[in-house]
Amino acid sequence: MRPQGSHREQRRLRRSWFGWVIVAGLILSACAQDYPQSALDPAGPIARQQDNLWNLVFVIAIVVFVLVQGAIIYALFRFRERKDDDGQIPKQVAGNTKLEILWTAIPALILVGVAIPTVQTIFELAGRPDGDPLEVRVVGKQYFWEFEYTGDEGQGVITATELHIPTDRPVYLTMESRSAVVTDTGAGAEGEARNGVIHSFWVPRLAGKQDVVAGHVRELTIQADEPGRYPGACAEFCGLSHARMRFYVEAQEPAEFEDWLADQAEPAVADFDTELAAEGERLVSSDTIGQQCIACHAIDGYDTEGEQVANQRIGPNLTHFASRETFAGGFLPINEENVQAWLDNPQALKPGAQMPRLGLTPDQIDAITAYLLSLE
Ligand code: CUA
Repeated sequence: MRPQGSHREQRRLRRSWFGWVIVAGLILSACAQDYPQSALDPAGPIARQQDNLWNLVFVIAIVVFVLVQGAIIYALFRFRERKDDDGQIPKQVAGNTKLEILWTAIPALILVGVAIPTVQTIFELAGRPDGDPLEVRVVGKQYFWEFEYTGDEGQGVITATELHIPTDRPVYLTMESRSAVVTDTGAGAEGEARNGVIHSFWVPRLAGKQDVVAGHVRELTIQADEPGRYPGACAEFCGLSHARMRFYVEAQEPAEFEDWLADQAEPAVADFDTELAAEGERLVSSDTIGQQCIACHAIDGYDTEGEQVANQRIGPNLTHFASRETFAGGFLPINEENVQAWLDNPQALKPGAQMPRLGLTPDQIDAITAYLLSLE
């Protein structure tokens, strides 16, 4: 019969089981099927080129790791203390010139070996890509990404949080950081570059990270093989709602993308199914509440003159708001409930966002929500 263990042994047994469950959980968590944000699962030629470089460095690191750890383990067993040692201290060795040259030269050669393909890749991917890239200006703001299609075909379309691109074509991004400046009149102007903070643009499956730094124009090229929705994130702490500065790259077949772009270039559609949405439109274009909306947001078709237009880039362009799937930096799906909650109190959902609590009544919130959801 198995002897009864003491309470202490049972506790130890339970603890070790608990430890193994955690270790197994960590290992199994690596077996997930989807890697929507894994740089190790590249979905385009640029990400693949960077991934190949990573693989090379990883293999070198594994070889070094196995050799060094192997030598340590060998030394541990080969030179361990034995019963017949009589407590003698082993022969001390120091200052072997040959060995020192060898273990300085080998790492130096490995580093040179890694540096050559790394620098080569950096130069290959820098600058404007060859061919006929789609040009997009990316502006990092607190806390969302704005995308402006600057090429001839782009027709100045400005959108936010969701970047549509065609498949199989390089997309050349020029990136800046801006932030809003509140002026005496209460309205903001699009901030000078020096006021922007550092963001980092990262769509792991399409390209490596690129920091977006105030006062500089940074470049990055991305490209996708297949249509799909590729999640991205701001990868540099930029303030209170940094974690809510996500975005999506929506890759479409070229023809589908052209249709999308042509659609976005049209002004906001102003015929509504419901009286509620029409009431929302009246509110947004009114002198009272509307002034607060269009002080920071552009809705094409409701443009105002001069400086106001610059101001209207403080917040996301709302012209085709309802054609997107998410808003507020990509963390809220666009639906009635979320838009209403946002209009009621943006700061509760996204602390530090530029949009203040406007003090709208429930009726006004319902109407403006209906209007925004009609902007397809
Ligand atoms: Cu922008 Cu973090």
